[in-house]
Amino acid sequence: MTTLVTGCSGFIGFHVTYALLSAGHRIIGVDNLNRYYDPTLKEHRLALLKESTGFTFHRLDIADRGKMHDLAKLYPDIDYVVHLAAQAGVRYSLEEPYTYIDSNITGQLCVLELCRHLPGLRHLVYASSSSVYGHNEKVPFSETDRVDAPASLYAVTKRAGELMAENYSRLFSFPATGLRFFTVYGPWGRPDMAYFIFTRALLEGTALTLTHGGQQERDFTYIDDIVAGVMSALERPPKRHALYNLGNHHCISLRKLLSTLETLTGRQAVIKEAPLPAGDVPRTFADITRASQQLGYHPRTSLEEGLPHFLNWYREYYQV
Ligand SMILES: NC(=O)c1ccc[n+]([C@@H]2O[C@H](COP(=O)([O-])OP(=O)(O)OC[C@H]3O[C@@H](n4cnc5c(N)ncnc54)[C@H](O)[C@@H]3O)[C@@H](O)[C@H]2O)c1
Repeated sequence: MTTLVTGCSGFIGFHVTYALLSAGHRIIGVDNLNRYYDPTLKEHRLALLKESTGFTFHRLDIADRGKMHDLAKLYPDIDYVVHLAAQAGVRYSLEEPYTYIDSNITGQLCVLELCRHLPGLRHLVYASSSSVYGHNEKVPFSETDRVDAPASLYAVTKRAGELMAENYSRLFSFPATGLRFFTVYGPWGRPDMAYFIFTRALLEGTALTLTHGGQQERDFTYIDDIVAGVMSALERPPKRHALYNLGNHHCISLRKLLSTLETLTGRQAVIKEAPLPAGDVPRTFADITRASQQLGYHPRTSLEEGLPHFLNWYREYYQV
């Protein structure tokens, strides 16, 4: 089994690649190792993957159509594509909008074009996001809800990516599955996310910013549950195109996240209050009925169980 993983040096890509290698896949990993957050962390994840003989890495930009075309020619035997590379982050999309168009729209198109030219492709699984639900007020968020009120350009690009996949899977007859991830956390996680920023501030004794009084609620989903969801989606190609929420089905406020981290670290936060940032939504909450019925997806890790795993990794990695 030969599988192309884009974004393999990223948080989710690293864990998924690791699981696929363990399951016996030969992996072609792709990443541009950009500097959106500390690239050393990406290099370290990559170094671990390179220890496996089944792993081959290509440093390239998925929006580079020539290089993506060459990749399809170099590996015509690719069976599966797991597309996780993207410019992530809601707030950054207000500062660097063009990056989102490049990586998430042009990049998505290049991945779809590559899929179109792979003779033996069995399934494309790609990352979407809970952010497509935008200002949806009905909770929990279901795949049948309308998704036409995005709160950020990031959300726009993720929804556009779904529509592009829907179109390509129909036009060029390959199965594609979009997974709407909900606030994923865990070891080797992303330094731009609240749980990471809070942990760093608590352990360094510096002030942290709590927006909107910490009232925003997120459906925090542990990385191992996400990896299990990706693996089971990959094994179940739909006839054409499918979308699934992969969340934890538990809504937890940022205030509660912070107090759990305070308890775990034995430190008290120094808090700076700030308003709800533009582009942020007050709540995400996944209805996971479809994923549970069709993929056998059953997240098992509560925030209270998952956060200590993250904290142990953080302490060891940063030696604090
Ligand atoms: N982590 C979450 O909570 C979450 C939630 C919803 C959706 N997602 C989506 O899941 C996917 C993985 O997210 P993550 O949290 O692992 O983020 P990440 O930033 O850690 O990983 C993305 C990786 O893709 C690479 N990349 C970005 N643009 C690229 C390009 N143009 N060409 C090649 N490589 C490129 C980056 O260098 C990075 O290593 C993304 O599509 C993201 O939008 C993540």
